[in-house]
Amino acid sequence: MTLITLNDKKNVFHLSNQWVSYVFSVEDKQLIHKYFGKKIHTYSGGMDYPEKTRSSFSPDLPFEDELKVSLDAVLQEFPGSNQGDYRSSGIEVVFDAHGNTNTKFEYESHSITKGVIPSPGLPSSFDAEKGESETLAITLRDEAEQVDVTLYYTIFEDSPTIVRKCRINNKGQASVKIDKLVSMSLDFPAATNELIHLSGSWAQERQVVREKINRGIKVLRSKRGSSSHNQNPFCAIVQPTTTEESGEVYGFSFVYSGDHETIIEKDSFDQLRIQMGINHETFSWVLESGDEFYTPEVIMTFSPNGLNGFSQEMHDFVTTHIVKSSYKEKHRPVLMNNWEATYMAFDEETIHSLMEEGAKLGVELFVLDDGWFGKRNDDTGGLGDWWVNETKLPNGLKGLATYAKNLNMSFGLWFEPEMVSPKSDLYKKHPDWVLHYEKKGMSPARNQYMLDLTRQDVRDYLYTSIEAILMSADISYVKWDMNRNFSETYAKQLSTSKQKEVSHRYVLGLYELLERLTTRFPDILFESCSGGGGRFDLGMLYYMPQTWTSDNTDPVERLRIQYGTSLVYPISTMGSHVSASPNHQNGRMTSIDTRGHVAMSGLLGYELDLLRIDEDEKEAMRKQIDFYKKHRDLIQYGTFYRLLSPFEGDQTAWMFVSKDKQEAIVFYCNGLASAAPSLKKLKLQGLLENQKYVFDNGVSSYGSELMNMGFYSLTKGHQDILGDFATSFSYLKGLSE
Ligand code: GLA
Repeated sequence: MTLITLNDKKNVFHLSNQWVSYVFSVEDKQLIHKYFGKKIHTYSGGMDYPEKTRSSFSPDLPFEDELKVSLDAVLQEFPGSNQGDYRSSGIEVVFDAHGNTNTKFEYESHSITKGVIPSPGLPSSFDAEKGESETLAITLRDEAEQVDVTLYYTIFEDSPTIVRKCRINNKGQASVKIDKLVSMSLDFPAATNELIHLSGSWAQERQVVREKINRGIKVLRSKRGSSSHNQNPFCAIVQPTTTEESGEVYGFSFVYSGDHETIIEKDSFDQLRIQMGINHETFSWVLESGDEFYTPEVIMTFSPNGLNGFSQEMHDFVTTHIVKSSYKEKHRPVLMNNWEATYMAFDEETIHSLMEEGAKLGVELFVLDDGWFGKRNDDTGGLGDWWVNETKLPNGLKGLATYAKNLNMSFGLWFEPEMVSPKSDLYKKHPDWVLHYEKKGMSPARNQYMLDLTRQDVRDYLYTSIEAILMSADISYVKWDMNRNFSETYAKQLSTSKQKEVSHRYVLGLYELLERLTTRFPDILFESCSGGGGRFDLGMLYYMPQTWTSDNTDPVERLRIQYGTSLVYPISTMGSHVSASPNHQNGRMTSIDTRGHVAMSGLLGYELDLLRIDEDEKEAMRKQIDFYKKHRDLIQYGTFYRLLSPFEGDQTAWMFVSKDKQEAIVFYCNGLASAAPSLKKLKLQGLLENQKYVFDNGVSSYGSELMNMGFYSLTKGHQDILGDFATSFSYLKGLSE
């Protein structure tokens, strides 16, 4: 299948598959954006936009046909700087030869190749099977400086997605200082649009924010060193009428785990510019003569089918083209984690007892969380000392792994490799391994400092010590945590001019370490974590197929967190655990059903002291685990539909539909209970109209009834569901008549 074409005049590029088109032209060596959206058959050039100068104040570009066009007004693919476009630039540089900052990048050449062109050292999307994608590489040249920028556009056969990134290549003699280089810049013609983004904080990640886009600039960003709890590297541009079920959605997701920046600018002609890239506030890069630099990728996905349509496309894309692990389509185990059960106060005997209780419930994997290594008895010490604390665990990890195995469970372990505690042997030995500038001291966060991952010796130490632990016992799972934001970001061994490279170099160092470890241990299931979901991004998912969604395990707050997360990230990436009631983070009491049903809507785990709960609750958990194991293919890999938003009302609902539409699970959660509730009906989605379905309570209905008439959702069987935040989790199956 041909995905990228060039018109007869050889000046219009058209990338298209069965869903989308992306069109731009080369006019007088400038790249002029024409269109991105639902597939158009052919671009025949009727638009010719804009035809003349828009502002007498903005400089003109003399086009061959005598029409004058101002760069300030055209839709561009790669806006330069100090050149007459006063909107946000795609690149900001200082050419060290003379200090000039004016760029003049003009079309030089292009190539079209089968497949993806990977970026060295960075996670990138890939073909599931060879040759199902094509990449257009357009090289622009600033002739006076001898600097090239290559824009990469990859289109896949199976997704309404274009992947963009760029590379800068210094072919001149002098160095070039890059102060900003976006991964993509995309201009839209004037329209009324809304912006959706995922904002949050620790324990309240990825809250859906929707707002009108007005003139001016809005920046969504992180400068915390990680993608962050506070602003997920994602945004969507939608129409005011777009809902979960219908309307246009343009989604932009960054394949990166560090400081990011999304610029949304509506100009004085009401045109919209969206840019995504590394946050230029905390970045610069010295490009020596002969050097090149790649940006991370941006995934641009279009759906005309509302937010659900967009998310479903995104989920498929992430599973097929981003997650590299061999677990990507495997069933994920039901796990038990001892963190909220014991915190760091455990011994071997307690862990054995928890394992026994977990095994009786049907748990498949036991995860030993923080506190098993060095002198780690509270959060003031131990990080960096990756050897087993034999006072706590006299039979070591091998003893625990064997104990788990005898109970028919596998065994997993928590690490926080990127950090060091001041009270640790590692810090005593290598105080210089910490990011900081010695004359200004260091600010601890959670009593810990950041290791300088820009250093090869630090990465080698981490690789060797983690490898030794993973070889020492039968360990089949790793939880990779990271529990603080950056500060005093300064790397001693780098020269003065390279200090603003540290944040990005850190992320490159992290990726190198993850590449080595995940290649060395392909059969280990890695789960990423950063105080819950502080690094829930496509960069981490490339290496680790799942993420601990949030440290907040209260099912009611989790409704919003999981709802927001599902906008971009597949269910198979979202760790969600049943914890104690009252909840440890907010003190709320909820039933075991509510806790179970919310956790069963992701990758199910249990994280509470099983030695202190009664038999009734245990019985309920046993049933949850049985149910989950039976239906996990549907939950983890089915098509996900959001039905009622916790951001818009007091009820939440979502559902999972099998690919053949013969099975579904519907999750519903009421808000505060009422003796006289409103008799609202819930309408399902994604079923077959003419198919009869039977619910687990024996009631049957046609798909068209369930989707168009809906059903009263406050009942389970024939009984009302009572109590605050009462839930139901109903299975339905197609009936053959
Ligand atoms: C972070 C994680 C938790 C737990 C603790 C351990 O906060 O998100 O799940 O592992 O660290 O210290």
